[in-house]
Amino acid sequence: MALDARNLGTRSRDLPDPAGPARPLRPAPPRRSRRSRRSRALGGALARLPDMAPAGSANLPWVEKYRPQALSELVSHRDILSTVQRFISEDRLPHLLLYGPPGTGKTSTILACARQLYREREFGSMVLELNASDDRGIDIVRGPILSFASTRTIFKKGFKLVILDEADAMTQDAQNALRRVIEKFTENTRFCLICNYLSKIIPALQSRCTRFRFGPLTPELMVPRLQHVIQEEGVDVTEDGMKALVTLSSGDMRRALNILQSTSMAFGKVTEENVYTCTGHPLKSDITNILDWMLNQDFSTAYRKIMELKTLKGLALQDILTEIHLFVHRVDFPPSIRIQLLIKLADIEYRLAAGTSEKIQLSSLIAAFQVTRDLVVAEA
Ligand SMILES: Nc1ncnc2c1ncn2[C@@H]1O[C@H](COP(=O)(O)OP(=O)(O)OP(=O)(O)O)[C@@H](O)[C@H]1O
Ligand SMILES: [Mg+2]
Repeated sequence: MALDARNLGTRSRDLPDPAGPARPLRPAPPRRSRRSRRSRALGGALARLPDMAPAGSANLPWVEKYRPQALSELVSHRDILSTVQRFISEDRLPHLLLYGPPGTGKTSTILACARQLYREREFGSMVLELNASDDRGIDIVRGPILSFASTRTIFKKGFKLVILDEADAMTQDAQNALRRVIEKFTENTRFCLICNYLSKIIPALQSRCTRFRFGPLTPELMVPRLQHVIQEEGVDVTEDGMKALVTLSSGDMRRALNILQSTSMAFGKVTEENVYTCTGHPLKSDITNILDWMLNQDFSTAYRKIMELKTLKGLALQDILTEIHLFVHRVDFPPSIRIQLLIKLADIEYRLAAGTSEKIQLSSLIAAFQVTRDLVVAEA
């Protein structure tokens, strides 16, 4: 009821002119304007936009300092970005649903779109950004989202933008309530949902949006962007250091930048060893030693030595397991033995994920390798 009453008074006025001129593309002006009350109340990334410019941001973490400001600055997903760019220049932005693993540029993309669509001083009245730090229940849909979407701005034609970042954290009720709101106010408002897990968004919402998947970044795309940051910051990075950054971040640009920053602050020079030490990830030489002990020493010696190394370097069994798993695939074990070993590794990983004792699971890992060793010797 409340929804209809609000709607009646607002929707009939000042509808967008479908034949109107395409909105000119405007970069955000450098001038700082005073933020509106709503923009301050939002507390979201957009409210902080003026502070995000690279200049004068010495104390910002690099992920924010080098957050792409325009669509053209994003280094990946060219096809998605050109499609979105076309939507904007033709003034035909549909509802969007951006999904994919963390640190792949979803939030940056929509913030860059908003910057292109609106001038800085319009953000407060034209953009509503909600993220996981806000309440995600049905009240937020019935309250702030509904009142924002259902009202029009007198001095500005065109649609408003509602950005629901981390939408997978919204409750089912809230998502259901959003269905009707999205439909009802389409002429006035565009919604952009962003999430990591598509399956957590109800199908009805998915079907109302144009979906784009942001996959992990490939090393070829990450390296030039990292090099840009390295050059700007004057960091000393070796070739193997760069390789380690790319390997450890596995397609997550945020992680790569964070590791780069913390390693350069902790050690000065970014080498492979420093990167691995800084992140607490086992070095290749550590893994070689561990394998050597497990395959060539008796059980108690292997256990003692691995425990010592783990304590000394602060390694997690989970990371050791991941590296050892890669080794098992590389070594030429007889197939039946390799299968047994992989099943055991999978069991250990499962139990570790359930929060069991690392000491017992380490014993189990050594036991698995020693049984394998005996089998290989018996077969030979
Ligand atoms: N495609 C990209 N090009 C350049 N920089 C990127 C790209 N993707 C991510 N980054 C860097 O990583 C940081 C985080 O990106 P962003 O916030 O857009 O990730 P996200 O996809 O929204 O992740 P999450 O799902 O965790 O919210 C950005 O500040 C930027 O520095
Ligand atoms: Mg994000």
